Amino acid sequence: MPNSGSGQAIGLAVIGAGYWGPNLVRNAQATPALRVRWLCDLDEVRARAVLGEYSTVGVTSSYADVLADPLVRAVAIATPASTHFELVAAALEAGKHVLVEKPITSNHADAVKLVELAERSGLTLMCDHTFCYMPVVRRIREMIHGGEIGDVRFFDSVRINLGLVQPDVDVLWDLAPHDLSILDFVLPPGTRVVSVSAHGADPLGTGRACLAYLVLRLNNGALAHVHVNWLSPTKVRTTMIGGSRRTLVWDDTNPAARLQVHDRGIDLGEDAALSHEARRQKLISYRVGDVVLPALPETEALRAVMAEFADAIATSRPALTDGRAGLRVLEILEAASRSLELDGATVAVGENR
Ligand SMILES: NC(=O)c1ccc[n+]([C@@H]2O[C@H](COP(=O)([O-])OP(=O)(O)OC[C@H]3O[C@@H](n4cnc5c(N)ncnc54)[C@H](O)[C@@H]3O)[C@@H](O)[C@H]2O)c1
Repeated sequence: MPNSGSGQAIGLAVIGAGYWGPNLVRNAQATPALRVRWLCDLDEVRARAVLGEYSTVGVTSSYADVLADPLVRAVAIATPASTHFELVAAALEAGKHVLVEKPITSNHADAVKLVELAERSGLTLMCDHTFCYMPVVRRIREMIHGGEIGDVRFFDSVRINLGLVQPDVDVLWDLAPHDLSILDFVLPPGTRVVSVSAHGADPLGTGRACLAYLVLRLNNGALAHVHVNWLSPTKVRTTMIGGSRRTLVWDDTNPAARLQVHDRGIDLGEDAALSHEARRQKLISYRVGDVVLPALPETEALRAVMAEFADAIATSRPALTDGRAGLRVLEILEAASRSLELDGATVAVGENR
């Protein structure tokens, strides 16, 4: 039997002890508002190995037993995407709050059912869009929402490395949820993706795309580009967000200058009455201002994920990355998959609903 719950802490069970689950366990255990009671995996030996011999956290392969424990008020699910719908639905039906790994489910219709079930039941449904909880991403969001960079003109994200060719998903579903959840998180309210065109390739003949390029159109006329690739010998993690006033460059492989704020760009005549031709004729002036490196705390994103989950439950408010955020990301992913099948044709986001 697991240890008994402490005072006010929210009893939590982590489901899945594979690659990612142990990170959830470690960060939940470091969160005073949470109390890990169970680690559940079909493979009990693996779960036991994650906890170590002396842990008082319970180990089980029975999800039903976890859901039957009245001291478990919440579950954190880190199993493969294809299992999310069934596991999340069962938890919500048992009255438990849920933190689920990305992507929320493998298809939009299932995700809608989960979001509606959570809302009807008054339960927290949060997606682990981990990157949104990095201090750098929080800072980017504040700067964009606060108007510091002006109107968003472009978003360009590169996430490439030598990656594991996954058994159940292509590179799009493995890596692009990160970029798309970041895009969703930082865009100003009311700005959203309206269409996507995706190209992919499978040079190893694995049956799944190992590299992909996505072009996304936003409803403010801006363009976004996402490049994901499992075959790159070097790791590149760079996101550039161009605004009418400043441009942000986030290089996650460069801790000394993770975020650069460039006050440099191109100023054209702002006279709206000028024709295109007249604007072209007008002298372009390059603005050469400062490059600022904001100071950022080095805290682990998953720690903030756990704190947000606990606080959303305690205060009955939607989490920053709630089920609806998961739905928006899923909509884009589905449209991108459809575009891949159609050899890059432009697909409206939300068209498949
Ligand atoms: N947020 C992130 O940055 C991040 C990073 C990696 C993975 N993930 C996500 O985490 C999830 C898991 O990925 P992973 O790489 O850890 O997978 P994994 O295959 O390494 O581990 C999955 C584990 O779930 C267990 N499992 C499967 N079905 C189960 C069930 N019904 N009940 C209990 N246990 C079950 C398996 O035995 C396995 O140990 C995926 O959704 C993935 O997209 C998120």
